[in-house]
Amino acid sequence: MNIITYNIPMKKILLLAFLCVLSAGNGIFAQSSNQTTTGTNGTTFSAGKNEFLLNGKPYIIRAGELHYTRIPKAYWDHRIKMCKAMGMNTICIYLFWNIHEQTPGVFDFKGQNDVAEFVRLIQKNGMYCIVRPGPYVCAEWDMGGLPWWLLKKKDLQVRRLSDSYFMERTKNYLNEAGKQLAPLQIQNGGNIIMVQVENEYGTWGNDGKYMETMRDNIRQAGFDKVQLLRCDWSSNFFRYKLDGAVNALNFGAGSNIDDQFRKFKEMNPTSPLMCGEYWTGWFDQWGRPHETRDINSFIGSLKDMMDRKISFSLYMAHGGTTFGQWAGANAPAYAPTTSSYDYNAPIDEAGNPTDKFYAIRDLLKNYLQEGEIVSTIPENPEVTITVPAIKFTQTANVFDNLPVAKQSENIQPMEFFDQGWGSIIYRKQLAVCNHKQTLSIKDVHDWATVFINGKAIGKLDRRRGESTIEIPVLKANARLDILVEGMGRVNYGEAILDRKGITDKVLLSDGKTEKELKNWTIYNLPVDYKFQTKARFSVKPATGPAWYKASFNLTKTGYTYLNMSSWGKGMVWVNGYNLGRFWKIGPTQTLCVAGCYLKKGVNEIIVLDIDKPSVTSIAGLNHAILDVIGKDDNQQQKAAKSLNLNGLNAVATGTFPAESGWKAVNLNEMTAGRYFCFEALNAQDANDNSTSAAEFEIIGEDGKAISSINWKVVFVDSEETVKSANGADKLFDIQESIIWQTKIGDKANHPHQVVIDMGKEINVKGFRILPRTDKSTKGMVKDYRFFLEKKPFKF
Ligand code: GLA
Repeated sequence: MNIITYNIPMKKILLLAFLCVLSAGNGIFAQSSNQTTTGTNGTTFSAGKNEFLLNGKPYIIRAGELHYTRIPKAYWDHRIKMCKAMGMNTICIYLFWNIHEQTPGVFDFKGQNDVAEFVRLIQKNGMYCIVRPGPYVCAEWDMGGLPWWLLKKKDLQVRRLSDSYFMERTKNYLNEAGKQLAPLQIQNGGNIIMVQVENEYGTWGNDGKYMETMRDNIRQAGFDKVQLLRCDWSSNFFRYKLDGAVNALNFGAGSNIDDQFRKFKEMNPTSPLMCGEYWTGWFDQWGRPHETRDINSFIGSLKDMMDRKISFSLYMAHGGTTFGQWAGANAPAYAPTTSSYDYNAPIDEAGNPTDKFYAIRDLLKNYLQEGEIVSTIPENPEVTITVPAIKFTQTANVFDNLPVAKQSENIQPMEFFDQGWGSIIYRKQLAVCNHKQTLSIKDVHDWATVFINGKAIGKLDRRRGESTIEIPVLKANARLDILVEGMGRVNYGEAILDRKGITDKVLLSDGKTEKELKNWTIYNLPVDYKFQTKARFSVKPATGPAWYKASFNLTKTGYTYLNMSSWGKGMVWVNGYNLGRFWKIGPTQTLCVAGCYLKKGVNEIIVLDIDKPSVTSIAGLNHAILDVIGKDDNQQQKAAKSLNLNGLNAVATGTFPAESGWKAVNLNEMTAGRYFCFEALNAQDANDNSTSAAEFEIIGEDGKAISSINWKVVFVDSEETVKSANGADKLFDIQESIIWQTKIGDKANHPHQVVIDMGKEINVKGFRILPRTDKSTKGMVKDYRFFLEKKPFKF
C-alpha cells in the first residue's frame, strides 16, 4: 500500500496496551468512540479527539462509495482505480445480506459475491475500506438488503428487538459477514478502518438498546478491534445514543456545511467530523424526471468540507447498475427505483469519468496529505459499442406457457407461494352477470393487468393508489385473470414490509352487495433465467404479455445500452444475465449491458414484456438515455381547479424566521381533522414568488409526528414534476434533502397551497416544517396559514 505508516512512540504503545487490557476487562463492547486499538502489524485507526488518527497521526478520510453488487467483478479493479484517480484514499462499501443468503441458511460469498476479494483489491490498490454490513442498508436495494423470505413470517417486524426471529437471523448473517471480513480489519493487517453499525437508524427509531445489540453482534462477529461508526442526519442523530461508535452525518450536494454540523458540534464538541454520505447525485424513480445535481454547488460544499478538515464519503462515486430484480423503492408515495443506478455520479454507468469526476479530481489535488498522490486515470477495460437493431421473430405468450398451478382458498402475496420476485397470476371463474360490476383489489403490489377471458380490460398502478376496476357485463361464465408484477420492495421507512402480488383480498361488488372472492388458481412467474427459457417459442405473433427471443452476432464486445423505448414493461436477459427492468414511462429508456456479458459470435436475448411493445426490435446505443419521460397510459391529467378557502378559519397563522432547520408550530388547542392545507403567503425574499419546503409533519396527541404512510396530495397549485422531480409528495417522503417546489419559472404569485388527505381523522397538536436544506433560500416560506378540516376542501 502506498499509504504512509508511522512509528508509534514506545510510551504510547505501552499506554495503548494498558488501555486494551482495561477495555478487555470491562468487556470489549464498552469501548468509547475515541478508543485506539493497535493491530498485530502495528497499524491502527481510531476516532481521536477532534480528528481521526491513522497510526496515531491525524487523517482525513476521502472515501468514495462503490457497491460490488452493482459492478461486474471483471471491473472491480478498474472502478477502485478510478476512485483513487479521483482523489480518494478510501472506498466505502455496503454488504447486501439478501444477495448472500438467498435461501435461509445457505450463504454465498463466491465469484460476484466475493466481497472479501473486493476488499483485498482495495488494499492492493493502496486504499482503506469502510464496511457497512447492515443488516439493513437502504441503498435503493430490494427491501434495503433484507431477504424477502423474512416476509414469510406473517407478523414480522424488522429493525426492532421485539422480533426475536429477525434478531436471530441478523446475528447469524453478521457472523457470516465477520468470517469473510473480520480478518481484514486494519489491526489484523488488512485495510478496513471502520465498520458501520446499522444505517441511518435515527430516521427509523430511537431505541438505543437495539443499536447496542447490533453493535455487540458486530463485535461478536469478529469485528473486535476496528473503529465502529454510525451515520445519521443532522436532524436526528441525537434520537439515540451509541457508545463505542463515532458518528457521521449524511447530507446532499450543495449543503450548508456549518448548518449541517452546528448542533452535532454543540453536542459532541470533541468528535471528529465526517459526512458519512455526501450525495453526489440522486437515484431515479419510474415515471419521474431524471435526477441530477449541479457540479458547482456539489463542489462548493465539498470544498467547504475540505477547508474545515472534515472527512467524507461520496455516495456514490460510481453507482453502476442494479441488475436483475434488486432495485428497491421508496414510499410514501410508492416510487420504484430504476435499474440504472447512474446516480448522476462522477463515474458513469459504464465506468467512464464525467465532468463531475474531473471537478472533484481538480479540487482534491489541493488537499492531499503527506505521502499521498492522485494517481493517473486508468484506461477503461471496455470500449462502448453500438449494436444494430436486433429483430425479434420468436415469441411465446405468457398465457400459453403457464407453470404448474397452485390452489389457494385465500388471496396471498407471492412470498407465501415461495416466490421472491417477478409476476404472479390470480385466476378464477366469474359467474354470468347482466350488469357491470366493480372489482376491488386490496392491495396491488405493484402493477396489475386485469383480463377477462384473456382480454385485458384495464391496469392498476400502485404508484397512484389505484385499486378498482369495472367488470363489463358477462354474458356467460368468464375467466378472470389478475396478473400482478412486483417491482422493487420498499427499502426505506415504515413501508419496508412490502409483500408482492395482492396483499390482502379481492372484492366483487354489484353496487348493492360486495363479496370477497375465494378459491384461486395461482401461477408464479419468477425472474430466474431458467424459467424464461422454458417457454415454447414460435413465430406466431404475440398477443398480450409475452416473451420475445432473438440472437445477434458480434465481432467486437463492449458496453452497450439497449434502447427499450419501443417496449412496454418488463425485464431483459442477455446470455442468461438479467439486466433489470424496463418501462416505457421512463425516465430510463436504456438497459446497460456490461461488456463482459457479451461474447464474440452468437449472443442470445430474451425479453419478457408484460405490457405491449410498439416495435419489436432493440438497438444497442453507445450512450444511456436516462432522461426521457414516456407515455403513461393511466396518467390522469390533474384537473385545473382552484381551492376555495372562503368561510374557513385557519387553525394557525404566523411568520417563520429566515433560518434553516425544522420549525414547529403548536395549534392553540388540539383539533381533529383529516385534510389539511398549508398555504404559503409569501417568501423570505419579497421578490421571490416561489415556494419550497423539504418536509412536513403533523404532530399528533402524543407529541410525535404521525405516520405519513397513507397520505395523498389532493391539491397543489404548483409543483415541478417536469424539469425536476420536485412534486408536492416530496413533503412527506421522509427524505430531507428532497424538496417540493413550485414550477420553475412559474409566473403565478403567492399564495401557494398544498392540500393533503391523511387517510383518517387525527387529533392534531401542531405541525413541523423543514425548509430546503441546501445553501439556496429560494422559496423559503415566511408568512403562512394552516387549515385543518374533517371534510374535504372545496374547489
Ligand atoms: C441514505 C441511505 C443510502 C441511500 C441514500 C440515497 O443516505 O443511507 O443507503 O439510500 O440515502 O441514495
